[in-house]
Amino acid sequence: MLGKKMETAINEQINKELFSAYLYMSMSADSANKGLKGFANWFMVQYHEEMLHAMKFYEYITRQGGKVTLKAIAEPPQTFESPMDMFQKTLKHEQFITQSINDLVNLAIQEKEHASQTFLQWYVTEQVEEEENDNDIIAQLKLIGSDTAGLFMLDKELATRMLTVPSDFSKGVEAAMKAMGKA
Ligand SMILES: [Fe+2]
Ligand SMILES: [Fe+2]
Repeated sequence: MLGKKMETAINEQINKELFSAYLYMSMSADSANKGLKGFANWFMVQYHEEMLHAMKFYEYITRQGGKVTLKAIAEPPQTFESPMDMFQKTLKHEQFITQSINDLVNLAIQEKEHASQTFLQWYVTEQVEEEENDNDIIAQLKLIGSDTAGLFMLDKELATRMLTVPSDFSKGVEAAMKAMGKA
């Protein structure tokens, strides 16, 4: 059973995950518009990951007998100065999300909701990976500087990123993947 405070906080987190998806979709669109197909691919994979993060919370609330409440999603920025600008904004946003996940864990501890504490650990681990990925790409972009050949190479590398969904990710997501013939 999910307490009211936890239910409200997780519903707010669903909105944050959906905004994350929206933000990365916008970055993907801007990259595609500038001919950076690899960056566009990387951000579109990121969009799908964020949708899965939202779905995982959705399913948790539902399975715990709570009610999912969907709010308006804010408009993301439409254009970005450069790939570096995008990844710096991505890192900053992920640091904000990490703080938000930490706040959820703190609430679960305060409310003595052990199931929620356990469930949230997946997100704690995921955020370490998210920030690491962004820091890695920012480091590469720093090395590249204004070298267009280097940027071209990185774009090729980012074109290879594929969406991977762990088999135990979420019952609902698994069913959807099966329906699409992907699992
Ligand atoms: Fe997320
Ligand atoms: Fe994220």
